[in-house]
Order: sequence, then structure tokens, then C-alpha cells
Amino acid sequence: MDIKSIIGKKRENKEISKEEIEYFVKAYTEGEIPDYQAAALIMAICINGMTEQEILDLTVAMANSGNKVDLSEIDDIVVDKHSTGGVGDKVTIVLMPIIASLGIPVAKMSGRGLGFTGGTVDKLEAIPGYRTNVSVEEFVENVKNVGISLIGQTENIAPADKKIYALRDAINCTKSIPLIASSIMSKKIALGANKLVLDITVGNGAFMKTKQEAERLAKCMKLIGQKAGIETVCVLTNMEEPLGINVGNTLEIKEAIEALKNNMQEDLREVVYALGAQMIKLAGRGEDVNQNIAMMEETLQSGKAYQKFLELITNQDGDISFLHDTQKLGEAKYVIPVLSEKDGVVEQIDAELVGSISVYVGAGRVKKEDEIDMLAGIVLNKKRGQEVKTGEPLAYVHTNDESKVKGAVENLKQAFKITDKKVKKASTVLGIIK
Ligand code: URA
Repeated sequence: MDIKSIIGKKRENKEISKEEIEYFVKAYTEGEIPDYQAAALIMAICINGMTEQEILDLTVAMANSGNKVDLSEIDDIVVDKHSTGGVGDKVTIVLMPIIASLGIPVAKMSGRGLGFTGGTVDKLEAIPGYRTNVSVEEFVENVKNVGISLIGQTENIAPADKKIYALRDAINCTKSIPLIASSIMSKKIALGANKLVLDITVGNGAFMKTKQEAERLAKCMKLIGQKAGIETVCVLTNMEEPLGINVGNTLEIKEAIEALKNNMQEDLREVVYALGAQMIKLAGRGEDVNQNIAMMEETLQSGKAYQKFLELITNQDGDISFLHDTQKLGEAKYVIPVLSEKDGVVEQIDAELVGSISVYVGAGRVKKEDEIDMLAGIVLNKKRGQEVKTGEPLAYVHTNDESKVKGAVENLKQAFKITDKKVKKASTVLGIIK
């Protein structure tokens, strides 16, 4: 098999065979194909797309690139959740302890930042001591012991996805239905979950900019789920503005902790409840969505969800004194307000731009080997629909890099659109595809 001819075929938008896909995935994972040739093929896929058969073959090849986990020793039903990515998306960190506190086992493997979107693993690593790099054996043990484990992608679970994911980030090939669908579903197949709720984000701060695109992605992932025996429910959620108010790793951990103490931003709460209600349903613990939401409210209000979060963090060696007193997590050296230049109402916040500025000030990677600045990011002082006066802060830039301050502040100003008209509330949940 010859990688140059496979690249050539895809460049000319021809279908590549199962054998060619399997060869590429195996040889790239084993280091026999260099990054530059893999990058060429991934770019061609990103531009030309893939047929359904190619997507299925790519997903299975990536799932088979490493070990498979058997979660059946935890429970007959294991419900997983994954998001297609967003800005300010700390849903996993808030939702999973809520679900675990209801006695539903949570075994979740998350990713790092991708493009302008953040990643749960980077965020969790903002908690001193917390280990995301955990073996599969320990992962399963942790779920058995405390009912929950959140970890990063281990070397031997879909290692092909791990390499391709980092490469896509570095070459700006994140927005692609076949690549997103195969990336997510290969991990789910390898991980052995049999029920899955997908948060398909839609809008300016998501990879899918329109509801139609999001529906296509949902259909594609449901098809893979069906072939792989994973019952999959897709919840389409609005990502027209960042979710919640904090964007950046430590900043999002701080917001997630507040949320688990039942002090949650309204849009974040809506997404958490919509996904959680479906997870509880798939786990066979409640058919009625409203009752499921009431269960989640109770576990938050009683402090059980926060308690479960503390157990999770302690069990993976995180220092919970930083959760009790989040000021200990620290703050960036420069915290600069971005002031409104007029009176009015916030009509729009360009979430992709906010995400990109957050990466620029240090919260994400530009090259795959870049270190991230845990304290960097953006804090929104105003959300869509809120009134603002001239000179009032719209947002704050947090960074340790003085050279980035001026550019970030100027650009962030552009992210806000202020109007003098009334702004209608946008719905957070745009649809559920069962
Ligand atoms: N999450 C993933 O795991 N992969 C993607 O491609 C996007 C979001």
C-alpha cells in the first residue's frame, strides 16, 4: 500500500477503500507515516469529505487501533456523554458528578483543547495534583470505588484518534463531519459504553455553524452508534455565545465549582439539565424528563453532587483545599477590562472570536507541543440580552503575557454587538434527536 496514492485519491475526491483506511490508520499510529503525509490526507478529507462507508471504516479502524475496555464489570448499562466542542463548555465537569451522585456509574474519557474550543482534560489539570493520566485498570477501579472517574485519553485507547486529533488541531482541520464523528465514536466504541448522549453544539462558537450541519453530524454519529450497538441520543445545543461566563482552564474550573455548589449560570444549567435528563432516561432510571430534572435539582441543592465531585478529585489525588477556597487556584498577572463604548443591550457575542482570543492569550495551543497557561482566558461581565452602559466592562482579559494584552482587548471589543433594540431570549436546547 502506498500513502502517496491514497492522498492522491482523496485529493481528487475519490472514495478510498477499507484496506487503504486501515493501512493509513495503522501505519500512522505506529509512526511509519510522517506527520506531513498524514496532514495532507487529513486536509484532503477535511476539504472533500467522506462517504458513509468511508466514515464507518475510519471509525472502526481508529477504534481497533488500540485496546478495548470492558465496562460490563461496572454495570450492564454504562451511559456516556460527549460534546462536539464549544467555548466555555464546562458541562462534563458539572454534569458528571450530578449523574454519579444519583448512583449512575460515570466512566468518562475526555479530550484536550481543539482549535478555538477548550478541552475537559486541560481544565481538570488546573486542579493541583489531579491525575488525568490514569491506566484503564485504575479507571475501572475508580468507577467501582467512588462511582465516577474522569480521565484523559490513555495511550492505548484509540491511539490513532489521539494522534489525528492533535494533528487536526495543529493544521486547522477541526471542522469536519467525518473527522469529528469518527473521532468521537471510535473512542466510545473502544471504551465499551452501550448508551451515549451527544451534545451537538450549534452556532458561531461550535464547529457546526448551522442547525442543518449539526443535524447532518447527528445523523452520521447515530448511524455509527447503530452499527456499533451504542444507543445514541443527540441533543442539539446553542453555542452562539460562550456557555456560562468563564472561558479558560482555571477560570472554567472555578465556574464549574460554583455551579456544583448550586450557583449556576442559567444557560449552563439548561444544557446540563437537558443532557442529564436524557442520560438518566438511557440509564433506565426515569422515563419522565421533568422528574429527571427534579432529581438533578435535588442532588445539587442537597450538596450531594458537590460531595461526589470532591470524592472524584480526592480519589485521583487532586488537592480539594483548592476547591474549598478557589482563590488558591490563583489569577493571571494581568486582568484587563474591556469597556463598552456605548449604551445599549448585548445582541451578540462572537463565541468563536472569544475562543480564539482565549487561545491567543495562552489558554490553548497554537502548535501541538505548546504549553498552556492555566490562568489565561476571558471572563464575560455581560451576556446576550443584558443592558450595558458606556464605560462599563463587557468582559475581562486574563493573561500572564503582557505583549498579548493590547491585541486581545481590541479584538474582544469586536466580539460584542450592542444594540438599542430589545433582544429576544435565544433557546439553549435546539432539538433532541432520538
Ligand atoms: N471531540 C472529540 O473527541 N473529537 C472531535 O473531533 C471534536 C470534539
